[in-house]
Amino acid sequence: MNKTVLVTGANAGIGFETAKALAEQGFKVLIHSRTAAKGQAAKARIQELVPGADVAVVTADLGELEQIRALAAKVNELAPSLDVLVNNAGVWNSKLELSKEGVEMTLAVNHLAYFYLSHLLYPNLQRAQNGGRIVCVASDSHKQIKGMFWDDLNLTNQYHGLRSYAQSKLANVLFIYEFARRSPSEDQISAYAVQPGLVQTDIGLKGNTWLHRLAWRVRRQMSGHKTPAEGAATSIYLASNDKVSKATGQYWDDCEPKDSYSSSYEEAEAKLLWEWSCNVLGIKDFFVKSGA
Ligand SMILES: NC(=O)c1ccc[n+]([C@@H]2O[C@H](COP(=O)([O-])OP(=O)(O)OC[C@H]3O[C@@H](n4cnc5c(N)ncnc54)[C@H](OP(=O)(O)O)[C@@H]3O)[C@@H](O)[C@H]2O)c1
Repeated sequence: MNKTVLVTGANAGIGFETAKALAEQGFKVLIHSRTAAKGQAAKARIQELVPGADVAVVTADLGELEQIRALAAKVNELAPSLDVLVNNAGVWNSKLELSKEGVEMTLAVNHLAYFYLSHLLYPNLQRAQNGGRIVCVASDSHKQIKGMFWDDLNLTNQYHGLRSYAQSKLANVLFIYEFARRSPSEDQISAYAVQPGLVQTDIGLKGNTWLHRLAWRVRRQMSGHKTPAEGAATSIYLASNDKVSKATGQYWDDCEPKDSYSSSYEEAEAKLLWEWSCNVLGIKDFFVKSGA
């Protein structure tokens, strides 16, 4: 039977290339997009490039918890058994914005949505025949800060897009390491954090100030940059390669595990983040047992 993958933020950039490549490999691909129009356009592009691709579109604004719950319910209908969840959607915000729950929006979209979807779809991942997988697209940007800003997590008094982005990406790595420590081994769910590289996408052009848009236009041309397809390579590898099924709780770059920044190994930080996230989301038991 074909494997099924959900890729968030699959209408553009790294997510689109990940979804396309996995469709080429024969996966049934659930493309998540913020809007139906962008999702349908991405589906049409994939089906044009990969004739016969099995693709469905699901939508949600990942900054809204109600929409994340509705997304998980829809995925549950389409894929009671889910082989791979690729948490890829991400933002870079010039200005401080809060979610309905009062969480800084970059942290809400880049971390809380990853955490929440991984929890809500955990039973589906448990039903995967050869062990479910969670791939979280993180970033080497997590090295730009020394730790989570626990005294001012929303950065109300010190907001900068670089700082909020770095914090959210540190949260991705802390989450994956803590997930691997806590996940019951009998559930056989592997989780990986990915550094995609410096990738020529439009992430820094969306809703940002002209100065930050200009900075991103220059930065994404810098030496060593990758195309979106090259940036997607490690996510694709981790979603599909048989060799990595047991390599849970590692940080990956160019299809190889590597060390992340020292603060990401702080177990007390990871525990605190885990508990804070459960508290905000009202999660009592993250590792819900699947019914069947
Ligand atoms: N580009 C890089 O150099 C780089 C480096 C390290 C890590 N990353 C990470 O790679 C991942 C993919 O980014 P990308 O570079 O491919 O950027 P991108 O082309 O802008 O793709 C980001 C995707 O996330 C979606 N998204 C953002 N906010 C959302 C929300 N509130 N609700 C639903 N969907 C939302 C976007 O939807 P819309 O199209 O509707 O905005 C888009 O589909 C991100 O996690 C990013 O942090 C990127």
